[in-house]
Amino acid sequence: MFSELKGKVAVVTGGGAGIGLACAARLAEAGVAVGVADIDSAAAHQAAADLTSQGHRCVAIVTDVSKAKEVEKLFQITNEAFGPINIAVNNAGVGAPLTPLGDTEEEDFDRVMAVNLKGVWLCMRAALRHMAPQKSGSIINMASALSTTTFPGSGLYTASKHGVAGLTRSAAVEYGESGIRINAICPGFISTPLLHSTVTEEAAKSMAARHPMNRLGTPAEIADAVTYLASDASSFVTGSLFSIDGGWTAT
Ligand SMILES: NC(=O)c1ccc[n+]([C@@H]2O[C@H](COP(=O)([O-])OP(=O)(O)OC[C@H]3O[C@@H](n4cnc5c(N)ncnc54)[C@H](O)[C@@H]3O)[C@@H](O)[C@H]2O)c1
Repeated sequence: MFSELKGKVAVVTGGGAGIGLACAARLAEAGVAVGVADIDSAAAHQAAADLTSQGHRCVAIVTDVSKAKEVEKLFQITNEAFGPINIAVNNAGVGAPLTPLGDTEEEDFDRVMAVNLKGVWLCMRAALRHMAPQKSGSIINMASALSTTTFPGSGLYTASKHGVAGLTRSAAVEYGESGIRINAICPGFISTPLLHSTVTEEAAKSMAARHPMNRLGTPAEIADAVTYLASDASSFVTGSLFSIDGGWTAT
């Protein structure tokens, strides 16, 4: 399945851990050469070393997605290493403290918007510039169930992920005839090492209960959707906010 992905080239941001790592691995298994970008140098290098040792083509590129110059360098290095970029998985993101809006801090607003919204915009812009001459490509933004719904205390994160949905849809409309498809994935709560290290088992259970399927999703379930959106199997899909949330946003 997805055999046409063999030989393609992807950038995956936040590829050192969690969902991004699963996406990088799944694409690499499909024969895609991957630029694994992460602000965490050790995580990026470990991920690239593991995938390379399994026979895949990967390079680690330490990148802060909130910095324009670093994002430009990320796309340039990946291009130089493997050739023109076909797939951009703009996944790097951070959380924010769960706080009523009246108690939120300016530094939290700036940090969350810098990574989750500005970072996605910078990566989209770089991807569009790289993909335009080849008149093809797939841009996949990691949004959230909180791109279309919300819950108390999540205002800053919700705003950043609603922004990602807006960027995705407006770019898809603008670039509809360009050959470049632009979509977002909206995960429910996903069982990542980070999630389990930051919440108690009891909190994880109540997060699971938000989904009618009454469980957390897995990074592999998100990576499968990324692979579909990267492939020709989704050739008529652009501007979609693809919910992978165990039914959460259907409630
Ligand atoms: N885990 C969930 O339940 C969930 C649900 C919905 C959406 N998401 C989204 O999925 C994405 C990945 O989440 P995750 O759970 O795998 O998180 P994670 O924390 O496990 O991994 C995120 C990775 O991004 C990297 N990163 C953080 N800031 C960065 C920056 N400025 N530049 C480059 N890399 C940076 C981190 O070092 C880390 O390796 C995020 O955008 C998140 O908002 C996650």
